Amino acid sequence: MKRIYLDYAATTPMRPNVSVAMLPYFREKFGNPSSLYFYGQEAKEAINVAREKVASVINAHPSEIVFTSGGTESDNFAIAGVAWANNKRGKHIITTSIEHHAVLNICKFLENAGFEVTYLPVDNQGMVSLEDIKKAIRSDTILISIMHANNEVGTIEPIEKIGEVAKEKGVYFHTDAVQTYGHIPIDLTKLNVDLLSASAHKLYGPKGVGALYIRKGVKIVPFLYGGDQENKLRASTENVAGIVGFGVAAELAKKEMGKDILSLIPLRDKLIKGILKKNKIL
Ligand SMILES: Cc1ncc(COP(=O)(O)O)c(C=O)c1O
Repeated sequence: MKRIYLDYAATTPMRPNVSVAMLPYFREKFGNPSSLYFYGQEAKEAINVAREKVASVINAHPSEIVFTSGGTESDNFAIAGVAWANNKRGKHIITTSIEHHAVLNICKFLENAGFEVTYLPVDNQGMVSLEDIKKAIRSDTILISIMHANNEVGTIEPIEKIGEVAKEKGVYFHTDAVQTYGHIPIDLTKLNVDLLSASAHKLYGPKGVGALYIRKGVKIVPFLYGGDQENKLRASTENVAGIVGFGVAAELAKKEMGKDILSLIPLRDKLIKGILKKNKIL
């Protein structure tokens, strides 16, 4: 039996260009980016190039990108980092009941640590209501975390409008864009999003590498403590090869995002029909 993989929301295969770009960083270009001599600086430069590419997909400044170990760490870092940094101002967080476990479980952890979390319901299309968000905001609310697109049903939440509400009320807004980064155009110069999570393996990049966008000026504390990597926001020797792969995947995704997806639908249907016929399913 020939198997056909269709679950690109779970993960995607790496593009050949991505793996080719990563290979030297496992072998001859193996330096530690914190080393001051040639080998280290070569690796550091590769990270900086990737940072520019990853930032450019969402129109962010490279200095606002922190590389992480994936979407889960980005979500945990955004929520816990903002919670601990702002707990003198308030201890209330708003999210939805349909977030990924990377958001729901860090919220549960914070509840045990004395924070209060409101889990908003969604309608039968998976959409959160702006009115519910407005009603849930209190004087001690410090953060709203609502995903851009849901990983199970694909609903795209109104992050533009949520951002406006959050800004009006002086509350930070984080969005888990793991399912949309590199797929749906996002321009952070036009959206009131303070923090955004992304993961390379959802856009034909490697697993185990992600990014957190942190808007300049957001009050946040690190999630990992150790060395001074990532502008002192994320300790640990960088996953250089993974970051390079993420950069290439982001660059390719950006090029393709401009294409009219709807015009590709007949081609997709033709391809699926061909595969089904070839496998005698049709
Ligand atoms: C919406 C969403 N958030 C977070 C994650 C976690 O990302 P990662 O697998 O990179 O930790 C996923 C992965 O499935 C996801 O779909």
